[in-house]
Amino acid sequence: MSKKPLNVGLVGGGRGAFIAHPHQKAIHFDGTRRVVAGALFPDPKIALEEAANWPYPIKGYGSYDEMIAANKDLPEDQKLDYVLIVTPNFVHYDPAMKAMKAGIAVFCEKPLCLNLKEANDLVRTSRRLNIPFGVAHTYLGHWTSRLSRYIVRSGLLGEVRWVDSYYIQGWLATKLEATGQQQASWRVDPKRAGGSGCGGDIGTHALMQLRYVTGLDVTQVSAQMETYVEGRQLDDHFTIYCKLSNGGKALVRASQICIGYKNDLGIAISGTKGTLRWRQEEPESITIHLANQPDRVYWRGAVTPGDGFLPKDMPADLMAEPTIPSGHPEAFHDAFARLHRCFEADVRKWKAGEKFNIDGSKYASVEDGWMGIAFIETCVKSSAKRGAWTAMPKKV
Ligand SMILES: NC(=O)c1ccc[n+]([C@@H]2O[C@H](COP(=O)([O-])OP(=O)(O)OC[C@H]3O[C@@H](n4cnc5c(N)ncnc54)[C@H](O)[C@@H]3O)[C@@H](O)[C@H]2O)c1
Repeated sequence: MSKKPLNVGLVGGGRGAFIAHPHQKAIHFDGTRRVVAGALFPDPKIALEEAANWPYPIKGYGSYDEMIAANKDLPEDQKLDYVLIVTPNFVHYDPAMKAMKAGIAVFCEKPLCLNLKEANDLVRTSRRLNIPFGVAHTYLGHWTSRLSRYIVRSGLLGEVRWVDSYYIQGWLATKLEATGQQQASWRVDPKRAGGSGCGGDIGTHALMQLRYVTGLDVTQVSAQMETYVEGRQLDDHFTIYCKLSNGGKALVRASQICIGYKNDLGIAISGTKGTLRWRQEEPESITIHLANQPDRVYWRGAVTPGDGFLPKDMPADLMAEPTIPSGHPEAFHDAFARLHRCFEADVRKWKAGEKFNIDGSKYASVEDGWMGIAFIETCVKSSAKRGAWTAMPKKV
């Protein structure tokens, strides 16, 4: 018998929303998850209208409070298995807490929330209630990120000395927010975005990519957070020199004012034996440089274990991860689908009363989300002291 699809409820997604749509497509990728409900807009009337106009039937609610409260009275097969929170940053904490307290798993957009106090609460609550909680760091979902993680963490590049992890955009090079553009407006407002604009929005992705691939933590930062566009309150250019937990160093940098750049997220990791390079705008391959050898290019789905660099015994779960044949390009939506697919597996275990272990190996955990917020707060402190080396807080 085929599996009953998991039921997902959206928080956000109405009227011109951006990221709700890649997510809702990715939820439907495998036929094992479906969006069944939504609280799509802050105004209840518009929220219901938006739900009625959704491209397939969903149950609309006037608010996420209503959607979460209604869940307990629904027949078992209609109950939500998880909520997906795709609202601006200031509307992450409240629905996430309420969903967890109502016994609903949470998949939340990044950055996790507005500040460390909220992040502490979210981590502690998910642990106390033993509720699955994932954070949507999209780029971990590329198969090539999985492969990079394996290569670096298994020591094939030697000891990591230096990492350059970056996310460069140009869309906020002018005062776009003054035109009322939806995505720009809340991202430059400290009340709705948090303590950092560019750093919180995309610097957290660069940090997550570094931590995911290398397994290293940032221990201290020397931060320069700058604002190029006049009158903007938050940073639009974010350059952070970092000390890493193994004694190596890194640059985590992000910008939204580099005209012509689109979503240039990438990472270069240099170890004592070689360098790995990857860019999300060309996410189907990674390049490996070893001293005095020709460059090696590894394509998703087309690696050969035991080729003289990769060992014979590559991890079974990496090699078996569902994908389409190499050469049929995967990209952003596929990465999201891989995250939802892995989250689904943990939600199913949790619902069956089995042990689930969200260790950040398949998608970002709430602890990873916490680390993003801790990083931002530490950068803000360092930048205010003209880049003085500042230690990250202790893990919660
Ligand atoms: N993972 C990624 O690659 C990625 C990419 C873009 C955005 N994001 C994150 O996703 C989140 C949303 O960003 P976006 O660009 O899609 O924003 P957006 O402004 O396009 O969409 C936000 C949606 O939330 C809705 N909303 C706001 N308050 C609400 C409330 N109280 N109840 C119900 N709905 C409400 C809005 O109506 C809108 O539908 C942000 O946290 C952002 O950082 C992540």
